[in-house]
Amino acid sequence: MTAIETSDFAPAITGATTSNADDKRLINCNTVDVNQLMPLKYDWAWEHYLNGCANHWMPSEVPMAADIALWHSKDLTADERLVIMRNLGFFATAESLVANNLTLAIFRHVTNAECRQYLLRQAFEEAIHTHTFHYIVESLGLDEREVFGMYHDIPSIAAKDEFEMALTAALVEPDFTTTTTEGAQQFLENLVGYYVIMEGIFFYAGFAMMLSFHRQNRMTGIGEQFQYILRDETVHLNFGIDMINGIKAENPELWTPELCERLLERIRHAVTLEEAYARDCLPNGVMGLNAELFEEYVRHIADRRLERIGLPRQYGARNPFPWMSETIDLGKEKNFFESRVTDYRKGASLVWDE
Ligand SMILES: [Fe+2]
Ligand SMILES: [Fe+2]
Repeated sequence: MTAIETSDFAPAITGATTSNADDKRLINCNTVDVNQLMPLKYDWAWEHYLNGCANHWMPSEVPMAADIALWHSKDLTADERLVIMRNLGFFATAESLVANNLTLAIFRHVTNAECRQYLLRQAFEEAIHTHTFHYIVESLGLDEREVFGMYHDIPSIAAKDEFEMALTAALVEPDFTTTTTEGAQQFLENLVGYYVIMEGIFFYAGFAMMLSFHRQNRMTGIGEQFQYILRDETVHLNFGIDMINGIKAENPELWTPELCERLLERIRHAVTLEEAYARDCLPNGVMGLNAELFEEYVRHIADRRLERIGLPRQYGARNPFPWMSETIDLGKEKNFFESRVTDYRKGASLVWDE
């Protein structure tokens, strides 16, 4: 049996057991034990945790009969099938990348109990999202190797995933630490790379493509699942932005002009990767959508994300899909799909079989 290293619990476990919430720190806390949830300091983390729980759903509850019928009919064009397949292929493994980064790279270095509580909830949601793609592949009778292998086989998907995986690799190095300025800045780059870029930019072209089918009342099962995923991802993004801004506020010395320039460069690069992905999904355009519209959309989304972490807009692009932000993208997680939230709350009490 391998001995458990103290560092596996983050430095906080060896610190004093004071219950003073003011002493809590998001990273590098060495006064408050990370096992002690209350008193809370970061109410936003607990709020995001409660929102995540209220939004609970399972992919297998979504009926797929209409999707199965349409998929096996002649009513989908080859271009429409390509959009669907490329998005299934991207999301099927992107969800696992996020989950692995979260549990192997981020969790260990966050030294605060309420943030870890949220990360545990998010990790389960990422598992549900991966489960969704298993369920879709099984329902439609797709080739599982093709869908789950696209992150190797399709260059524009591979490029996005390699971009992300390099960020994870840097943090899982055995000597990585957030106690140096360089390490803490690298940690921020990982948070920006996953919460802002992966979950906040790389997911959004796919959301808009798949929800376009749903708006036309086609592939409605997949569309509903993407709506639930988008609702979850909105909370993930909000948590990530609060975390980034929180670390920045507690450690202002980390936010140097050089770090800001590196982050801007990374986001500009991510935008080019996402534009290439959109071109790959829509070589001929479908449903009034084309790669140019997606370029504009991705740039618009990137500007919004940049502003939320205090960095300057880079593009000034307009939003070609106002229906996305009107309905879903503006932090409406508390009210979005209210009926389902209520359903879950009603069903929350346990009934034991005697
Ligand atoms: Fe996810
Ligand atoms: Fe996520």
